[in-house]
Amino acid sequence: MATKKAEALTHAQLLEMDRQYCSFGDTVHYYDPPKIFSDCEGSFLYDEDHTPYLDLQMWYSAANFGYKNRRLNEALKRQIDRLPQLACQYLHAEKIEVAARIAQYCEKAFGLKGRVHFNVGGSQAIEDAIKIVRNYSGRNLMFAFQGSYHGRTLAATSITSSYRYRRRYGHFSDRAHFVFYPYCFRCCYGLKPETCNLYCEDQFERNFDTEYNSFWDPKEQESEFAAFFAESVQGTGGYMVPPQGYFPRLKATLDKHKILFVDDEIQMGFFRTGKFWGIENFDVRPDIIVFGKALTNGLNPIAGLWAKEELISPDLFPPGSTHSTFSANPLGTAVALEVLKMIEEEDYETQVNAQGTYFLTCLRQLQQRYPHCLGDVGGLGLALRIEICKEDGRTPDPQMTHRIASEGLKGDLRVGEKKYGLVLDVGGYYKNVFTLAPSFTITKQEIDLAMDLLDQLFRRCGVS
Ligand SMILES: Cc1ncc(COP(=O)(O)O)c(C=O)c1O
Repeated sequence: MATKKAEALTHAQLLEMDRQYCSFGDTVHYYDPPKIFSDCEGSFLYDEDHTPYLDLQMWYSAANFGYKNRRLNEALKRQIDRLPQLACQYLHAEKIEVAARIAQYCEKAFGLKGRVHFNVGGSQAIEDAIKIVRNYSGRNLMFAFQGSYHGRTLAATSITSSYRYRRRYGHFSDRAHFVFYPYCFRCCYGLKPETCNLYCEDQFERNFDTEYNSFWDPKEQESEFAAFFAESVQGTGGYMVPPQGYFPRLKATLDKHKILFVDDEIQMGFFRTGKFWGIENFDVRPDIIVFGKALTNGLNPIAGLWAKEELISPDLFPPGSTHSTFSANPLGTAVALEVLKMIEEEDYETQVNAQGTYFLTCLRQLQQRYPHCLGDVGGLGLALRIEICKEDGRTPDPQMTHRIASEGLKGDLRVGEKKYGLVLDVGGYYKNVFTLAPSFTITKQEIDLAMDLLDQLFRRCGVS
């Protein structure tokens, strides 16, 4: 029987089908019309006309090692032909090796023995961390930062600061107590980082002074709070780097009051900040680390956590404590193992810091051209930020930020004869920050191209 050859749907047909059949509940419809991409390579996404879009967000830092990274794709293909499927109640070598490498790394970095536990997505791994904390401490209440993002499952939103993510769904779990983040460009106390002596941490600590300050009962030596969940560098909150000295002081306060420190590395882990874990920039030993995203370069997802032995020993966290059909799936662990081997063989610390320094220098030059609207630029490694402000250089300008990002997606910028687009992600408390997470494969020429495209967008949108 002759088979009818399927014809490719047109762009317009796809958009119409999206309008009719796809849920709008995810994050696609922030842009109108939503953007369709059909190919990718290195630092670029391509639309159906094969126009290249330089991607400065790389799937929210999940594709750190570049789109279609050959080495990682080959690892996936080898696994597809060998052991692509396996129920998670059985072991396979790659899972064990990934766990061992991460645990051995943490032992070297922090001098702590621990174990690794897997799940599929970042939010699920956060939920597992909440379980471990509750199980160990017998307490439910958590601290998290204002501006934090830990995921959008029900428990993860309870420790994520944005009320918008919770408002329609009621309270499923105890909402975290949200603490001021050291957002120095907009200090909540109106102080300057050079002279504040970490006043915001002092204020946090004061809440433990007496039982009437509410966090701590000195007589019983007991806190109502079990753990502080924190991103090493705040991601969705606007790629905000805490000042040196902040985390050690916070950790000392937590230790003193028997409160665990859970380090969310889902976005910053695997060298986004120039270190394996972002927290290594700040001289702190976490009790739990949660990871995901770039561990598989955005190929078959794997997320998970490392916890120190006393929290996760099999006596305390027995078989069946969590389960997901696809946790530690062999395609994901095979890629994860290759990522970890690649990290050991290559010097990402030097590479990412050098690329980040060049990128930031270029951003500072761009800031001099647009001194009012580029209120703040900064970052750590290749986690970089541009804060878009009104003419006073401070008032957040979310409309302008959205407009610039939308124009970038039109794909009609020109460099010589060639057309380009620019992919930017918007974050920050006021939705006025470009959170830049370029590929680690980005070249100097591509960074120069990024500056050219940003400059064109700023001029087009009338940025001053
Ligand atoms: C810091 C952080 N934690 C948790 C999550 C949630 O991970 P996922 O989107 O894989 O559920 C994210 C995702 O962006 C994140 O950036």
